[in-house]
Amino acid sequence: MKILIVGASGTIGKAITKELQSDHEIICAGRNGSDVSVDITSIDSIKTMYEKVGKLDAVVNAAGRAQFSSLVELTPELNEIGIESKLKGQINLVLLGLNYMNDNGSFTLTTGIMMDDPIRQGASAAMANGGVKAFVKSAALEMPRGIRINSVSPNAVQESWDRLKDYFQGFEAVPASRVARAFKKSVYGAQTGKNYEVY
Ligand SMILES: NC(=O)c1ccc[n+]([C@@H]2O[C@H](COP(=O)([O-])OP(=O)(O)OC[C@H]3O[C@@H](n4cnc5c(N)ncnc54)[C@H](OP(=O)(O)O)[C@@H]3O)[C@@H](O)[C@H]2O)c1
Repeated sequence: MKILIVGASGTIGKAITKELQSDHEIICAGRNGSDVSVDITSIDSIKTMYEKVGKLDAVVNAAGRAQFSSLVELTPELNEIGIESKLKGQINLVLLGLNYMNDNGSFTLTTGIMMDDPIRQGASAAMANGGVKAFVKSAALEMPRGIRINSVSPNAVQESWDRLKDYFQGFEAVPASRVARAFKKSVYGAQTGKNYEVY
């Protein structure tokens, strides 16, 4: 299998890369990607990446930002960060990647627990997560050539806990390796239109 992992150098991306790397051709992407560079907020950049990597059996995305901000301080401009990156960035990876996906291949995107279990300062990220989840569920109905699409919704991961613990008080962080196994289930499994909750 030829698998493109966008965000491969990140906390979750590294765990996914470790989980998927045996016996597969893994292509690591990011703005400073070790194999290919891409900025998911740029349509041109996504197109250029797909032209470089060619046909694929799976696209896994673990990149995408959104602004943590209290609602009263959340401006339209700050909200755009999540729209451009976590929402549109991920969806554009699918829309622009369809022609590069082999028959029976798969896309796996990333959402997050905040859409289901809200926290303060989380409205913008929750919006993006919810949009991605809805897109996945709906797009699965019309994926051509047996192509599947799922998302993975991680809880805060233990490896990010120092950075996130003040936002997620009372949550029980999960190991990134557990999140990575949900990505593996999506890539190797038969299900489509799912949002795998790793809570
Ligand atoms: N960490 C958690 O606890 C947690 C929990 C729930 C959900 N999530 C979600 O999971 C995803 C990954 O989180 P993470 O903590 O692993 O992030 P991270 O450690 O900050 O890593 C982000 C990865 O994405 C790449 N990246 C960032 N912006 C990009 C862009 N515009 N285009 C292409 N690549 C880009 C980065 O590489 P470059 O710098 O080279 O671009 C890096 O490889 C995020 O959507 C996050 O919201 C994380």
